[in-house]
Amino acid sequence: MAELTPHEIVRLEGDAVVVLDQRHLPDEEIELRCGTATEVAEAIRVLAVRGAPAIGVAAAYGLALAAERGDDLDAAYDVLAGSRPTAVNLRWALEAMRDEPTRERAERMHEDEVERCRAMGAHAVALFPARARVLTHCNAGGLATGGYGTALGAIRAAWDAGLVERVWVDETRPLLQGSRLTAWELERLGIPHAVIADAAAASFMARGEVDLVVTGADRIAANGDIANKIGTYGLAVASAHHDIPLVVVAPTSTLDPSAATGEAIPIEERDGAEITPRFAARNPAFDVTPAALVAAIVTERGVHRAPYAETLPREAAAAR
Ligand code: MRU
Repeated sequence: MAELTPHEIVRLEGDAVVVLDQRHLPDEEIELRCGTATEVAEAIRVLAVRGAPAIGVAAAYGLALAAERGDDLDAAYDVLAGSRPTAVNLRWALEAMRDEPTRERAERMHEDEVERCRAMGAHAVALFPARARVLTHCNAGGLATGGYGTALGAIRAAWDAGLVERVWVDETRPLLQGSRLTAWELERLGIPHAVIADAAAASFMARGEVDLVVTGADRIAANGDIANKIGTYGLAVASAHHDIPLVVVAPTSTLDPSAATGEAIPIEERDGAEITPRFAARNPAFDVTPAALVAAIVTERGVHRAPYAETLPREAAAAR
């Protein structure tokens, strides 16, 4: 199976934003056509398109579509910006489109995100030991970025360099981005992997079967605190206990220097029915991992180490 192309994941085609509907993967490859910015916002809200950089790209296409239709751009901006609260890439992308809300600008942004992923992968390879057994959480692959991937891009680059023995894929309850999406991407790429229950991760670490944990991020505060899929914090605690490095791979579009610490990051609370349709449930979709538990943050510009507050805000400013 071939690698997913960026345009298979999300594109602006004619009078619609077309996304590969991630809710149906891996069983069915169905495209969803969104004819308005409101429909794009809904596709983002229901996770037909998901992952921090990918929702930024989809929103950019949505704004370009609204401009071509002659729709009210402020209203389109607001509906897109309000579709999901945690990933800062969404607002970053919409802001970047403000001066030039065109199809060409959105396409350039999409290409840039994929380029950033390739650069992150190249930097991250240095952090992989030989014969690495790597654990990842959620999906930070091409589906989540519009092509190539952040955490999965790093794993791909390390695999190409002959450094990866196997990938442990957390299934990622409740919506199974790991066992549905990451496993599917790894299968297509021919990278050896096995899905594990989220609850099994710590015991795999205790048995000495994990050398490195690699995840993406939805928003990174100025001090290096990381918001990512719920369960990342637990992995970080377990990996610190077992002295296993946890590396976060994310583009500069994920940095939010206006958030001094993770406490300022809004955490999306989704419908409890995603966990159980019958009983009362709480469903925070993300958690915050304190910078102290993060061994390195890799962006397209290089590898950051603590104290992150000294380098991340400067890099975010330079990238804007
Ligand atoms: O709710 P999701 O599936 O959009 O959550 C995605 C994640 O948490 C990813 O790890 C993150 O966006 C990084 S994607 C490159």
